Amino acid sequence: MNSAMLSDVYINPEKKSVETLWKDGHRSIYHVTWLRFNCRCKVCKRTVIGELNIHRSQFPSDLRIKDARLTKNGSFLELEIIGEVVDGHVINIDSGWLKSACYCDQCLHEMLQERTLHFVDPTKVEVPKIDYNELDTQEGMLNWMKQVIDIGFVVIQNVPLEEGACIKVGEKISPVLQNTYGKLFDVLDNQSTENIANSQIWLPLHTDQCHYEAGPGVQLLHAIQFDDCVQGGESLLVDMFYVLETFRKEFPEDFNILSKVPVPFGTIDYQRKNPCYLYTRKPVIVTDYDDQIVGFNFNKGIEEPLRIHAKYVEKFYQAYNKLDRMINRNEFVFKHRLRTGELLFFNNRRMLHSREAYMSNGGRRRLQGCYISMEELRSKYVVCARLMGNLDVVAPKIGNGSAV
Ligand SMILES: [Fe+2]
Ligand SMILES: [Zn+2]
Ligand SMILES: [Zn+2]
Repeated sequence: MNSAMLSDVYINPEKKSVETLWKDGHRSIYHVTWLRFNCRCKVCKRTVIGELNIHRSQFPSDLRIKDARLTKNGSFLELEIIGEVVDGHVINIDSGWLKSACYCDQCLHEMLQERTLHFVDPTKVEVPKIDYNELDTQEGMLNWMKQVIDIGFVVIQNVPLEEGACIKVGEKISPVLQNTYGKLFDVLDNQSTENIANSQIWLPLHTDQCHYEAGPGVQLLHAIQFDDCVQGGESLLVDMFYVLETFRKEFPEDFNILSKVPVPFGTIDYQRKNPCYLYTRKPVIVTDYDDQIVGFNFNKGIEEPLRIHAKYVEKFYQAYNKLDRMINRNEFVFKHRLRTGELLFFNNRRMLHSREAYMSNGGRRRLQGCYISMEELRSKYVVCARLMGNLDVVAPKIGNGSAV
């Protein structure tokens, strides 16, 4: 039995919607305006990306259903409506598409559930690793991207010790993104006054480039040189989505404050090599229409003075401090010391990252980094999985402000 076949259709008494019964027993309700504007007949169906065949603003606001019927053994739904503006038009929608677009509460819940993130316990799970040589195969590519989709990061081992090798790795997935620090940047102790990362001191957990409307998706950090004599300098990673789900349960009121109050982030430096003015404000936690956590902005190092309505000031700092303490709980922290030739590859909009302080002891810790698009990675992941036969692959959320 094909579960995406219709078995019956009823017009609701007010003629504003239909209820469909499916062969598997599922019931859906579709509204007349939704049905008309999603018509899949030969005239209306979009066949080219961007094509617009239904001119919605030409329709009256009060459409009604005149007739509804199933055709071809329940594989199509046909409707005629009062208020139609195209002569002789009959709405025609294939059942498979109609079922996949069902917006009943159960289907909406399932849509969000299947895209929700699954968290791993850093105290029980090894840091995920993959070898550079595997990246040349389709299986290797898929495995690489799957680790980033599933866990949020992966360490690529045996990356050639060449200048710009991280760009070559990144470009296997997406063009490298230009940012405040150029396309390729070095992280080493060079006494630079541009960024504190270029020192030996401890860096708190953070997200890079919160001063943009949307920070870069994936960050690559390639350990071109990390001498054994260097003491410290371990990389730390925390799945902020995991933390925030926990935070919401433990401190719901603080969660609400942090998802409402906007924090200013800025990088304003007229003295640096490439003078810049980057400034924006946005809440620490980003939620959506369904109250799903869909993003966050967390970087104390580039926060600007908080300017919010007085009644929120104290509440904000109390809430922020609770979150700040939570992210450092052992249960959330992955810790890894990069070896020379290893490349840390992580979703910057999901994983907070930091570095422990280090002492070079006559050696050197030099990382080279760049950013690529996480949305391109997810796109490649889905395409690659489908090419390899997994037509049911689901793309979970990636921290880009969307739950789907
Ligand atoms: Fe960073
Ligand atoms: Zn049509
Ligand atoms: Zn449904």
